[in-house]
Amino acid sequence: MTSASAPGKVILFGEHAVVSGAAALGGAVDLRAKVTVEDLPGSLTISADDLILRGFSLDLVSGRIASAEALNAVRYVRAALQEFEARDLRVKIESEIPLAAGMGSSAAIVVATVAALNMHLGLALGTKDIAQISHMIEKKVQQGYGSPMDTALATFGGYLLVSTSVMPIDLPALDIVVGYTGIPHDTRSEVEKVQSLLARYPDIVAPIFQAIGSISARSVPLIRDRKLLELGELMNVNHGLLEAVGVGSRELSELVYAARGAGNAIGAKLTGAGGGGCMIALPGPAGAEALMVALRQAKGLAYSVKTGCEGMRMEVGK
Ligand code: MEV
Repeated sequence: MTSASAPGKVILFGEHAVVSGAAALGGAVDLRAKVTVEDLPGSLTISADDLILRGFSLDLVSGRIASAEALNAVRYVRAALQEFEARDLRVKIESEIPLAAGMGSSAAIVVATVAALNMHLGLALGTKDIAQISHMIEKKVQQGYGSPMDTALATFGGYLLVSTSVMPIDLPALDIVVGYTGIPHDTRSEVEKVQSLLARYPDIVAPIFQAIGSISARSVPLIRDRKLLELGELMNVNHGLLEAVGVGSRELSELVYAARGAGNAIGAKLTGAGGGGCMIALPGPAGAEALMVALRQAKGLAYSVKTGCEGMRMEVGK
């Protein structure tokens, strides 16, 4: 039996603007997906009964499926198995990362699957190979769409500054709270919507992207020097700019305002593609617990996470 795990991620600053070449900063978080493979002669079974949204189990042989989100997670595992022509295996997925929420669950599942297969089948892939192959698999399943940030963060952990290239960056951990609206989002349609706005109003949207890129660049020394008040202020500005390009929603705003109000957050913004999915907030003097209570009262799911955490790892003896 071989197990590997990989972390989810949040985008701290720069989503959407990064699609047009501006800087974005992402961090791995300490919510993980774990994949276990073991020999099962004559069969190939994928099970995942404790994924966070809804429990489900899929048996590839009988084709039993319980939920669309679960089937989606399994598609990534199946693509990884196909990539290595793996058979005679039982594959079990366990994940603490909410699915289809913009927290990199599919990248974490692919990376953990590739890492577990690498060890189990003796493929001798290095870490860079695992990141590259996982990105290729994620892209294939998403039919050509997929940023390298998610699979790189799932593999290497830490923080990545992305613009025209992807650069690891050494920064201290941040304690943040993630609020999930419970509404799955569709990255591709949100990106297309924003890119269409840019094409129609380049004189208006390009400066917004430029401002977002400046926020990403300014956030790096603020995190390094732990200047949390300024960091929170820039989160609020970034949220407003994302609202301006049309990726906010009532549910996201309710969580953002609950965080800033009752939750006493220093700053809050949506994270990822928007439309649904998640927001992030920086806890104030009242702490993460008060923030989580406020988010739950506003009908969100709340997760207290650390950013900049460890990447892919083998899970020995579990
Ligand atoms: C989605 O997680 C982040 C976006 O910036 C899209 C991308 O970077 O590929 C909206």
